[in-house]
Amino acid sequence: MDIEEYIENHTTPEDEALRQLRRHTNLTTTFPRQLSGPVQGKLLEMLSRMIAPKNILEIGTFTGYSAYCLAKGLQDGGMLHTIEVKDEMEEPLLSFFEKSGIADCVTLHIGDAVDVVKDMDVVFDLAFIDGDKRQYPDYYAVVFPKIRVGGYIIIDNVLWYDKVITEPKHNDPYTAGIIALNDIVQNDPRVENVIVPVRDGLTIVRKVEE
Ligand SMILES: C[S@@+](CC[C@H](N)C(=O)[O-])C[C@H]1O[C@@H](n2cnc3c(N)ncnc32)[C@H](O)[C@@H]1O
Repeated sequence: MDIEEYIENHTTPEDEALRQLRRHTNLTTTFPRQLSGPVQGKLLEMLSRMIAPKNILEIGTFTGYSAYCLAKGLQDGGMLHTIEVKDEMEEPLLSFFEKSGIADCVTLHIGDAVDVVKDMDVVFDLAFIDGDKRQYPDYYAVVFPKIRVGGYIIIDNVLWYDKVITEPKHNDPYTAGIIALNDIVQNDPRVENVIVPVRDGLTIVRKVEE
């Protein structure tokens, strides 16, 4: 048994809707490892429940695993806006949201997150950034003004399989995007931030001023 397995064995297991979704994702998608999984999913759910957001923004829906986890923490009447660029995901996502009982509190936007977020007139309490790693700095730039002071941004894959230190010259654009955003966040005087080394690393950012 490795430490990841031990952690999973000592974390509340995913519910039936997530178990089925993970199975379906494994059978039907090319890169199933993209989904958050049981440990990160439970952490996202817990953080969302602690924040009790009215509005959540998610960039990168994929098959809806993290969306479902985040939606659990919404206040009554709250809304999760989730953005996915691949239009072929629309039908299976809407079907999953319906089946899993969260359709009333989830709005799915199909399009490029940078364009979609720019046009949104919503103040968010929580955002989860998990789209194309090359665009991470652009996501942060458009998401930041939409977050209320005191609100949170969670960013996924900030350790990028340790490449942030093993490939510091960051020649590939994915590693470069992540390293660039990690540095932007660390040097941003408007926020407090911490990296949580769960799975591939999550940064939690708290917006302290506009
Ligand atoms: C790592 S997966 C998201 C996993 C999901 N958040 C989860 O934890 O289960 C990244 C997703 O972002 C989507 N994506 C990539 N670029 C995007 C963009 N510019 N706008 C919106 N979604 C994008 C991809 O198609 C992919 O489905």
